[in-house]
Amino acid sequence: MATGIGDPVPPRARLFRFPTVERYGIVWAFNGEEPLFELPELPYPDDELVVRRSMLDEMPVEPWLVQAHTMDLQHLSLPHEFELAEDPNDSVRVGRYSVGFDLRARLRGDADFDVRVDIHGTNIFWQTGTLDGRWFFWIAPLAIPGPGRSRATFVFGARREEGEDTVAAEAFLDRAFSVMMDLFNDDTPVLGTIRFRPGLLTRSDRALDRYLQYVRDYPRANPAADFLV
Ligand SMILES: [Fe+2]
Repeated sequence: MATGIGDPVPPRARLFRFPTVERYGIVWAFNGEEPLFELPELPYPDDELVVRRSMLDEMPVEPWLVQAHTMDLQHLSLPHEFELAEDPNDSVRVGRYSVGFDLRARLRGDADFDVRVDIHGTNIFWQTGTLDGRWFFWIAPLAIPGPGRSRATFVFGARREEGEDTVAAEAFLDRAFSVMMDLFNDDTPVLGTIRFRPGLLTRSDRALDRYLQYVRDYPRANPAADFLV
């Protein structure tokens, strides 16, 4: 290390090191000294996967609020118009560092979903399962570029099938991207408008209620805390 002006470096000067791991073509950093949980594993090795990534523009909403919309299970059958094969409320799971549910549904008479949806921490959307009977994954970590903002990276892919050529695998990924972006476009007009106040949830919001409690209980880490007054 050196100082720009040439002064000796103070002996206690240290940059904070975030724990990081490189997976699926992106670098994941944990906001804290030690990760509270490991990044989940996909069920297939990397060399069997066809993977794509895309990064979105910043959105005027914090990551935990985007994930609150994920746990708003009413919205699956309202803006998204899923025909639910079973009530996702029955599969809601709340852990210390993740929440989630299962979704078996048909989307607009066209796409069959049988997926497991999980939120890890408060900003990682992790969906695995089948679309039209074929296994795929859709992972969306949300970075927080500043207060009140988030920026999503989509990492998605499928398992290359026996004897399948690249064109066919890519065609399936085109399909998955199109279906998921349609869902995302349903949500975009709403995401920046979410405001919560106590006492406004209804009976159908019970999964959301559990998520909000999960966020309240979630450990906070601020590596700069010692420098803030
Ligand atoms: Fe949505």
